[in-house]
Amino acid sequence: MLGAKPTLAGEVVTLRPVTAADAATLKELMADPEVGVLTGSVHSRAEAADEQYTLDQLREVYGRWAVADDRVVWVIVENATGRVVGESVLNDLDEDNLSCGFRIWISGATGRGLGTEAVRLSVGHAFAVGLHRVELEVYDFNPRARHVYEKVGFVHEGTRREALRFEDGWVDCHVMGLLATQWRG
Ligand SMILES: CC(C)(COP(=O)(O)OP(=O)(O)OC[C@H]1O[C@@H](n2cnc3c(N)ncnc32)[C@H](O)[C@@H]1OP(=O)(O)O)[C@@H](O)C(=O)NCCC(=O)NCCS
Repeated sequence: MLGAKPTLAGEVVTLRPVTAADAATLKELMADPEVGVLTGSVHSRAEAADEQYTLDQLREVYGRWAVADDRVVWVIVENATGRVVGESVLNDLDEDNLSCGFRIWISGATGRGLGTEAVRLSVGHAFAVGLHRVELEVYDFNPRARHVYEKVGFVHEGTRREALRFEDGWVDCHVMGLLATQWRG
């Protein structure tokens, strides 16, 4: 169900299917410590400054994802500048239950409405191909993302308490879901 990888054009962003050739740009963007921390990819701010993946690793992964049947990975292109500013992903496909997961990150272009539209386009695609449920996780220290997800229609369904080890403490991870029957578009 996620084998087709269309380009989705919005007002402020265009979602374009990723290719291995995007790896260098995405590597630069994902070096943004805010992205590493807020996506739960690192366990401290210091670690966020370290290289997480080599360029070769990213070329291999994005090349594989570009043709994968079980996920769609888009680069988020800002329409005003033509720049790639992040990625938006439908993953964790469960065809039996018609559900999938979602994740997104943007670097250097947050707070301009790009993320809200990218989330809408991505989940709209999930429902357009017949999926019933989209699920995501968001950490407690990320109220901005949680607000965006709620604005789009995601509902808080539960909390994985202290699921992330960060600095000297623990961070709750909230599970949010959106159903096709509640999708307003
Ligand atoms: C989360 C993310 C995708 C949102 O995209 P964005 O382009 O920044 O979001 P938008 O500009 O479309 O909307 C931001 C909204 O959050 C609100 N907001 C900003 N800071 C906030 C805060 N601290 N608490 C609550 N709401 C906040 C803004 O007011 C705006 O809402 P509004 O349109 O109702 O006024 C983006 O910020 C991002 O990728 N951040 C870094 C990585 C990350 O957090 N990824 C998600 C992991 S779950």
